[in-house]
Amino acid sequence: MRVNGKPFRTIWLSPDPLIVQIIDQRHLPHEFIVEDLVTVDDFARAIKEMHVRGAGLIGATAGYAMYAATLAAPEDGSQSYLDQAAKTLLATRPTAKNLAWAIDRQQRAIAHETSLAAKRARALAVASEIADEDAEFCRRIGEHGLSIIQQISEAKGGRPVNVLTHCNAGWLAFVDYGSATAPIYAAQRAGIPVHVWVDETRPWLQGSRLTAWELGQEGVPHTLIPDNTGGHLMQHGMVDLVIVGTDRTTRTGDVANKIGTYLKALAAHDNQVPFYVALPSSTFDWQIRDGVREIPIEERSDTEIKFVSGQAKSGNIETVLIAPESTSGANYGFDVTPARLITGLITERGITPAHEADILALYPENR
Ligand code: MRU
Repeated sequence: MRVNGKPFRTIWLSPDPLIVQIIDQRHLPHEFIVEDLVTVDDFARAIKEMHVRGAGLIGATAGYAMYAATLAAPEDGSQSYLDQAAKTLLATRPTAKNLAWAIDRQQRAIAHETSLAAKRARALAVASEIADEDAEFCRRIGEHGLSIIQQISEAKGGRPVNVLTHCNAGWLAFVDYGSATAPIYAAQRAGIPVHVWVDETRPWLQGSRLTAWELGQEGVPHTLIPDNTGGHLMQHGMVDLVIVGTDRTTRTGDVANKIGTYLKALAAHDNQVPFYVALPSSTFDWQIRDGVREIPIEERSDTEIKFVSGQAKSGNIETVLIAPESTSGANYGFDVTPARLITGLITERGITPAHEADILALYPENR
């Protein structure tokens, strides 16, 4: 998607193919900083400390990290080096399924090659495949999701369709297009008027810092709202549908997403507002059935709750304390929305009810 009119992805290979580059998202929307990632530790730090974040992009970054691991692996003992790299990467963030999925895909591909040179070539090809596939699957999610927005637009006689979204499931959370935002961008391109309610998404503020920024760059009308506003808007008919992303979805359709998503789903259910979850198949966890019991939920430092960073009037980025210093906080990164609250899952293969039989009808290879 575009940054100041210029097309960008969130991760790419520099002309020197040894260097992977990312947009360091910690600095948005105030500064646009491109970072080089070279060593496995660079990649692990970038994922853990959220230079890159969002399930799809975490997966794509892990794919390139395994390629970097093959470059650094010694001729003797390359397998144990690669195993250790995979372990380091897996330990960075626990919730997004795409992380383990990408590492596993790389490990299986590399294992087929005998020489280190062949492993390097294969890992580069697979990393690029993962990134390109992520972008293409999000593009297809956009095409499928467009039909939902189109129908609502027709029912509203062409008045703007109001979509509420939580966190950032935009192109910044993937390689391109985004999952929740892909149908919105597709609608915008099709000339359908849309307006997005953007939850600010405490405490990391993915909504105000990232979603508002990327929608603005694409010229999509949007309004930033405090996280607690959605229920009120739904009660007053001001939300036509909710679309969110997900970090891990069970085979039965339970969805883990950024903390607060569950409350939006409850409010949507109470107000008969359609609640859709957009995801590429790399986010399904085919091994588990009960999201609340089985999806690992990341807990992060309470400094993310107690301190806020932003641009001061001076133009400098400053960090301020917004709670008593001695107060401790609980910072759960994600919650689980049960399948019964979800109208449908928008995938690269089409839209399905969040029911095991329907999901498996789309993905019969996982029966
Ligand atoms: O903590 P983050 O910023 O990595 O969390 C991101 C989200 O919760 C997104 O909504 C999610 O990844 C789904 S879209 C990839």
